[in-house]
Amino acid sequence: MKISFCCTDTKAEPWLAGLRAAFPADAVEQWVPGAEPADYAVVWAPPQQFLDEQPQLKALFNIGAGVDALLKLRLPPSAAVVRLDDAGMSVQMAEYVCHAVIRHFREFDAYEADVKLGKWSYRRPQLRADFPVGVMGLGVLGERVARALAQFDFPVRGWSRSPREVPGVQCFSGDAGFHDFLSATRILVCLLPLTPGTENIMNRQTLSRLRPGGYVINVARGAHLVDEDLIALIDSGHLAGATLDVFRTEPLPAEHVFWKHPKVTVTPHTSARTLREESIAQIAGKIAALQAGQDISSLAGVVDPKKGY
Ligand code: NAP
Ligand code: GLV
Repeated sequence: MKISFCCTDTKAEPWLAGLRAAFPADAVEQWVPGAEPADYAVVWAPPQQFLDEQPQLKALFNIGAGVDALLKLRLPPSAAVVRLDDAGMSVQMAEYVCHAVIRHFREFDAYEADVKLGKWSYRRPQLRADFPVGVMGLGVLGERVARALAQFDFPVRGWSRSPREVPGVQCFSGDAGFHDFLSATRILVCLLPLTPGTENIMNRQTLSRLRPGGYVINVARGAHLVDEDLIALIDSGHLAGATLDVFRTEPLPAEHVFWKHPKVTVTPHTSARTLREESIAQIAGKIAALQAGQDISSLAGVVDPKKGY
């Protein structure tokens, strides 16, 4: 059995060491053009040449949760695509989103500005009931985030493609539920996969349906959001601001309006990082299961190419 590692922007050695420790009797190699084909591949943003040279691959293990970039490539027909299934990301995402929601709700930026001026000033406490949070995407990450927000007693809504039930969360689904979900939401969190059905989903029309004083937290993909529409709605006063972790072009170009907008908080795609040890353990466990004859459809995180996630 051979595993090929082909991950752009990733230090290969620790991954190779971890995978070799899990499969000491097998070949685990970093891909070089023209290398012997492998049975399994561990990838992040691989070049098309890598995929074209691997027509026999059984599975491609993506070292991230989102597979939008990978699915744009021409994939070996026999290879299943398997994404990271949590692997330590959901708790990070819950921390990030709860922090952003609470920072906005408790007006910590305004307190910080006052303190910088030496001002000891109280603000009238805002009502939690006036800040319903809506989480788009109730998958591995979205559900964890929605549950975490509910722990702080925010009214929490969730929206998914198929109907879901999450304790403490009012769930909506499909196109039919989208309007009611948006109009019941003030702080909108995006945790959708990027697919043709979700691209540009946060635009002038949809963001206008949020309650006045709406706030946007995008931790999924930059192409979910129409940047100009967000800025126009913030500048018109309908939206109060945004916390953005992901962008259409990354790194965010130096001249982009988001960098300096006083109501936009930018972080560099860091809300839920791939954790190497957890990810290696998860991928190695799946490869071992496949080698032992388990059917790939029984594994968590197998991507449905028709749905695109
Ligand atoms: P997941 O488990 O596949 O969950 C996706 C959720 O989105 C599901 O609830 C799904 O509905 C819903 N959905 C998909 N298409 C929809 C549509 N057209 N309408 C309504 N709901 C739809 O994915 P995940 O692991 O939670 O990850 C979500 C995304 O987060 C990833 O794709 C990635 O882009 C992003 N991400 C970002 C970072 C970061 O650092 N910023 C880190 C990790 C992941 P069903 O439940 O009905 O299938
Ligand atoms: C990060 O954005 C991921 O998809 O894991």
